[in-house]
Amino acid sequence: MSTPNLTTETERIRRIYDERAPAYDRAQGLVERLALGSLRRQFGALMSGETLEIGVGTGLNLPFYAPAVTRAAGVDLSEEMLARARERAAGLPFPTSFVQGDATELPFPEAAFDTVAISLALCTIPDPAQALREAARVCRPDGRVVLLEHVIAPARPLAVAQRLLSPLNERAIGCHLDRDTFTLARSLGFSVESVGSRLFDIFQLAVLRPPARATFD
Ligand SMILES: C[S@@+](CC[C@H](N)C(=O)[O-])C[C@H]1O[C@@H](n2cnc3c(N)ncnc32)[C@H](O)[C@@H]1O
Repeated sequence: MSTPNLTTETERIRRIYDERAPAYDRAQGLVERLALGSLRRQFGALMSGETLEIGVGTGLNLPFYAPAVTRAAGVDLSEEMLARARERAAGLPFPTSFVQGDATELPFPEAAFDTVAISLALCTIPDPAQALREAARVCRPDGRVVLLEHVIAPARPLAVAQRLLSPLNERAIGCHLDRDTFTLARSLGFSVESVGSRLFDIFQLAVLRPPARATFD
């Protein structure tokens, strides 16, 4: 597939993750232990059937995909991240495919997947509302969108700290610390069922039901 036509901000994010790719898994180690705990495992267990992971990165979730997954596709802006996901996918018991693409303009037809999964990417995607609309578009009407994301904390002192630190983090690695992703999803018509959370409810796992198609027409 040819490189998508990206906005300046999306192109900046792509470059950041191309550069971060060789060290991403190592850098992520502490976050995994302190913040995510078993959430990645639970995230994978919620997948079934034909599954798309948006912002798949280096494929850290792939080893946790449930046996009910029949085929997996991954999309990401960064070819360097995808190269690592391809390596990680070798030997998985279902067919996989990986494609460079933008979450806000997915290279898949409507209703193509039973599960659409996103982890730690809606914090980084410049237009998370459009990414959620695209997730709903490619998800079958009876399918589900599974999200594992860090969001603004419900506790005010933590939220204040996140708001203060967010511009620095965003400049350095493109990641916003203060997004209210699940409120955004509800405002777009998704129903949201919380499954688990960690670290003062900053890291949250939830199953979303996509809104009726007409909502976005
Ligand atoms: C923090 S990493 C998370 C990777 C992986 N999901 C994980 O849980 O480790 C964010 C990923 O989102 C990807 N990304 C950011 N904006 C994107 C966009 N507009 N379309 C597709 N992928 C995007 C980045 O390239 C990066 O691989």
